[in-house]
Order: sequence, then structure tokens, then C-alpha cells
Amino acid sequence: RRGPPGVFVIFGGGGDLTHRLLVPALYNLASAGLLDSHFSIIVVDRADVSAADLRQSFHESLENFVTSRGTEAVRLHDDVWKRLSSNIDYVRGSFEDSATYDALARKTGNQNCIFYLAVAARFFGTIVDQLGISGLAKESGQAFRRVIIEKPFGSDLQSAIALNERLLRTLDESQIYRIDHYLGKETVQNILALRFSNGFFEPLWNRDNIDHVQITAAETVGVEQRARFYESTGAVRDMVPNHVMQLLAMTAMEAPISFDADAVRDEKTKVLKAIHTVQHHDVVRGQYAAGSIRGEPVAGYRDEPGVDPHSHTETYVAMKLMIDNWRWAGVPFYVRTGKRLAARKTEIAVHFKSAPYALFRDTPVDKLTPNIMLLHIQPTEGVTLQFSAKIPGPTVHLGGVRMKFDYSEWFHEGPSTGYETLLYDCMIGDATLFQRADNIEAGWRVVQPVLDWMHAPAGLDFYAAGSEGPKAADDLLARDHRHWLKIGS
Ligand code: BG6
Repeated sequence: RRGPPGVFVIFGGGGDLTHRLLVPALYNLASAGLLDSHFSIIVVDRADVSAADLRQSFHESLENFVTSRGTEAVRLHDDVWKRLSSNIDYVRGSFEDSATYDALARKTGNQNCIFYLAVAARFFGTIVDQLGISGLAKESGQAFRRVIIEKPFGSDLQSAIALNERLLRTLDESQIYRIDHYLGKETVQNILALRFSNGFFEPLWNRDNIDHVQITAAETVGVEQRARFYESTGAVRDMVPNHVMQLLAMTAMEAPISFDADAVRDEKTKVLKAIHTVQHHDVVRGQYAAGSIRGEPVAGYRDEPGVDPHSHTETYVAMKLMIDNWRWAGVPFYVRTGKRLAARKTEIAVHFKSAPYALFRDTPVDKLTPNIMLLHIQPTEGVTLQFSAKIPGPTVHLGGVRMKFDYSEWFHEGPSTGYETLLYDCMIGDATLFQRADNIEAGWRVVQPVLDWMHAPAGLDFYAAGSEGPKAADDLLARDHRHWLKIGS
């Protein structure tokens, strides 16, 4: 069904996020016939450009985007773009200036509005305050007013609480849509579908049958052009309280009483709150040194442009987390994320306990193929089950086999940025895939002890770019007689 009519206001429309993700996502929604005929876009920014210039630059990045994604070549539909772009307007002005908001209010009138804050985090508070002062944030009659913001939501627990308090001075929680783009990924959503729409996984999904869980979010890219942001952020803040905690929450949460937004978010917050305070010896921070990615030599982090040559910012983190509840007591969740690793791979590996004794003389229990359910989030999307089977032949020998479900093979899905779902959900007022204030704070609470220790330069382990990560991360699991699944092939 089509979304409602209204105005999609993008603060910071000149930026990368708007060009690479928002406009392509809106275009894809338009192509799928999901936008109302009275849907328009207003970009607010400081640059001295015309609406026509802006449309032209969106068109260029859209062409790049559309032709560079997916396995099949996708053609840009000119008629769809023409219709969408004829409804793009521009308001020039500073985010601090009330005149900007007055100009905006004149254009939006009494329509439904979504305000997307595609701006640096330091503007979040200012823009929302101004939306309040100008009356733009006020919902009246049938018209809704919603605000979408995207991480970083603060830089630690205290600043996250302060940001939430500031937003909630102007907005009701139900008007705030906090994006974690991982929640837009098909396979992340599929974790819940898999667990709660099938009869056979959930009965096994607990401490009686699961030995441990590994969550990996590995990237091959380095710090790219983001040294300024990354130097003060690091892998822990950048990935753990948000993306990694979302993956963990989806994997470990209890069944919600319904798929209502608050029911789902209640359960997620509950499980994050049940994570035991992390211990120093259960955390490994790493930084990439020079190495090679796909045969190409690459610089170490400290030699990247804009990075302090003595930087102690971590580009990798591994943690052992324990969840103090009945379902998970005693089951470690090992999580790791990093840049410049052996492959780009985000996956959740649920390791089941092995068979209780060795029925097959030639294959002792510890040589049986571990029973693992792998949830592939990216780059491939799907699910693999790994288990033992008899190798064909007259004698009984066991070997490891894999049973695989591949999303793209099965559904022949077209390319998506993940933002389509999120933007559409906001339009129709479904907040299930967005983070609530308490969700954000629960994520920060998990990593806050690590942030507190970080001031001491000790405790940074180096790893070669293109490798599996620091040795200390292997030791973290070896201590428990376990090992990480390989990231590289
Ligand atoms: C972002 C981080 O939130 O997520 C980046 O700021 C990271 O540093 C990115 O590269 C990873 O997202 P994805 O979708 O490529 O896994």
C-alpha cells in the first residue's frame, strides 16, 4: 500500500548520506509505487545552490548508485525520476537560524512532515529545538510530525541520556525514529522471522542446547576519508552499542507478545539490560598495522591521512559477553568487529552443543563436525546449517556437510539499500525497526566500562591489515577451549 501524502524534509541534503542512501531509497520506493502522488521532498542546507542544481546532482549519484548495485543491471526509470524530482524543493539557510524554519513552515503548511536529520550529530539538539520553537514539531489534527535521526546517539552513556532528554523536551517518544541501518537489512529482520515463525528453532534456542554464539561484523575497508570522525570514535563506539547490540538483541531476546513496535523494543531492551557488566579481561582492543587486502599492500591505521601517528584509537574490538537470565546463563556471546580484516562478513554463528557421546567408533565426539547455524547478514544473505553426515561408502565415516538457504537465489530480490524499509516504515508510523530511547541507553550501558578503561593507552593489540584480527582475540576464546570461525575464506 502507498505511504501517506506529505513532505519529506532532509536537513543536510548536500551530504553523502542523502546522495548515496536517502535519495536512492526514495527513488526505489517511488519505482515500487509506494509513494503517494502528493509526496514531496524539501532539502534544507546552507550551500548556495538552486533546486535545479540539487536535482541534477541527485540524478548523477542516482545513476551511479543504480547501475553499480546488485547482480543484474538495473535501469534508471526516467519517468519515475522525473516525477519524483519535480517535487524536490530547496530551502537555503543555517540550521541555527529561526528564519530557516519560518521559510520551511511556509512551504510545508499543514501537511504531514518527516524531518530527516542527515547532519553531524552536534546539530541534532539545535534542529529539534528549532523545530519546537517554530511550531514545526507540533502535530495538529490529522497531520503527523516525525523526526528521523541516525547514530551517533551520543558518545557514551551520559551524553546519550542527555541527548534523549533534550529531544524529549520537544518531541514525544512516538515522534522520534532513531535509525540503526542494520535494522533495515533483510537478514537482520529475518532473525526474528526465523526464530518466531518456525517451530523447530526456538525449542533449541537456549542454554540447554547452545554452547555459545559468535557475532562478527568484519570489514575490509580501513578508516577511508573519515579519520577526523573515527579518531575520536573508534570501533567500540562506532559499532558495538548500536549495530552489534542490535544483532545480539535479535538473537537473544525473548519472544515479544506481538510484533507491535513497543512489544519488540521492550524485549530487546530487557535482554541488553541482562548483559553482565563486562570484565576487563574479556575485552580485546586492536588496531590495524600495515598489511595487504586482496594482494594489495595497505597502510597501517597510524599512517592513514588525518590519523595521529601515535593514535590509540581501536579499529577492532572483541568482547565476551554473558547474559544473566534463565535462557542464556552460562552461554558466552563472543562479539567482534573491525576494519581491515580478511573479508567483509557480518554473520551470527550459533554453536550448538555436540552429541552427548560417540556412537561412531571412528569419529570421537570432539571430531564430529560442530553443529552450527550460521545467519549470514552480509555480503551474502542467507542461513547455513552445518552438521555431520555419513560419507558414502561401505564403511561408516562421518564428514561435515552444509545445508544452505540463499536469499537472493530463492527470492530473486532486486537491490535495496535497507533504507527503503526504514523510510517507508516511518511514513506509515511503524517504529518496530527503530530504536527507542531506553534501547540506546541499554546499548551504551554495555560498553561504558570499556570506554572508562580506554583512557589508559595500555591494552591495544595490533593486527596486520587483511588478517583475522589480533592474536589476543584468539586467546580470548582459546581460554574457553573455543575458537573463532574464520573470517577469510
Ligand atoms: C557505520 C559505521 O555505522 O556502519 C561505519 O560508522 C561502518 O564505520 C558501517 O563501516 C558498516 O555498515 P555496513 O552496512 O557496511 O555493514
